[in-house]
Amino acid sequence: MNNKITIAIDGFSSTGKSTIAKLIANKYNYIYVDSGAMYRAVTLFAKNNNFVSKAFLNIEELVNNLENITLSFNFNKEFGFAEMFLNGVNVENEIRTLEVSQLVSKVAAISEVRKKLVAEQQKMGVNGGVVMDGRDIGTVVFPKADLKLFMTASADKRATRRYKELLDRGDNVSFDEILFNVQERDRIDSTRKDSPLIKADDAIEFDNSDMGITEQFDRICALVDRKFS
Ligand code: DC
Repeated sequence: MNNKITIAIDGFSSTGKSTIAKLIANKYNYIYVDSGAMYRAVTLFAKNNNFVSKAFLNIEELVNNLENITLSFNFNKEFGFAEMFLNGVNVENEIRTLEVSQLVSKVAAISEVRKKLVAEQQKMGVNGGVVMDGRDIGTVVFPKADLKLFMTASADKRATRRYKELLDRGDNVSFDEILFNVQERDRIDSTRKDSPLIKADDAIEFDNSDMGITEQFDRICALVDRKFS
């Protein structure tokens, strides 16, 4: 392959976007960017500074403090993927809690937050060779991406996967609250005014409710390879 393409993977929460994106990035030696981690890190910052909780959201204070948020991804050689750092501190674990998941869609709906993160994401993809997953990658961040995928799966399957992940981490959560969170995030992400979660016209839809990782990986690799034939 002589030149590297841009791959956008969007879709509903817990559809396994990041798992597949990491595998694709590894195979083609591309950079993987988890854009959701960036929204989660901003949410953690807002939570730690009492700008957001389940009961309230102080948009003005958060927006005034956006310049005090520095995000970076640092590669962890031991685990083989990049971890999220917020103002120099590794927050990879903290951003994955149910508490952050319950607040992130509110924060991600703020236009000023999106503007800052979209600009940073576009910078990361300027040279191609990027696999980025999120909600608006094929529609807003990289509308000219060479390959766009849109992942879906039944809410029940997605909640089951996420529930297992959190239990494996040792988090004390119930299946019902995970299912509610998955559905609630889909609702907020799909109905927000700024860059709602929608399938780009030229995205290829993947319903992976009954598809294993290997099958998805093989199918997506075939689509990538076709771009070069
Ligand atoms: O991919 P994730 O579930 O970790 O993303 C967390 C939240 O961040 C998701 O519910 C909506 C928001 N998000 C977004 O609005 N735009 C993106 N490109 C990525 C995530």
